[in-house]
Amino acid sequence: MATPATTGHGAHMFLRVAVALQTLMVFVQAVSAGLLLSAPYGEALHGIGARVVFAAAMLHVAAAVAVRRRGGGSPRAVLYAAGFLGLLPAQVVLGIAHVTALHVPLGVLLFGMSVLQFACVLAARRARAATAA
Ligand code: HEM
Repeated sequence: MATPATTGHGAHMFLRVAVALQTLMVFVQAVSAGLLLSAPYGEALHGIGARVVFAAAMLHVAAAVAVRRRGGGSPRAVLYAAGFLGLLPAQVVLGIAHVTALHVPLGVLLFGMSVLQFACVLAARRARAATAA
């Protein structure tokens, strides 16, 4: 059974929540992009979603740094979190400039990166649980 000892400290939980929110919100961006192309309120939803993705990505970096400081995370996790955050301004500029030919593929790439980051966080949790068992 999962206990605090096997699932890690609060920073690990913070990291899982931040990456889950980031991944969910990038998916929601794809949904609101469909609405943006087909409904009058879609643009507003996509704009709000863009801000939430940004907030989640910043939380992700903060959580990855917190886990690292407590000696539980790899420097690569911080680098990947920062890399994701670093790509977002490009995504926003491409969206505002209507460069759809690059904005949509970069959105798909961001979703793929986020899913991988989430998979890594879950795998690390399983590894900690196995070590503690
Ligand atoms: C990942 C985070 C994302 C951010 C931060 C973001 C941000 C933006 C912004 C700021 C705009 C401009 C909206 C406006 O002009 O009012 C935009 C437009 C758009 N976005 Fe996104 N977006 C994201 C993901 C996606 C994804 C995943 C897709 C599709 C799979 C997508 C498809 C579109 C489309 C089709 C437009 C309209 C482009 C046009 O009007 O020519 N976006 N986005």
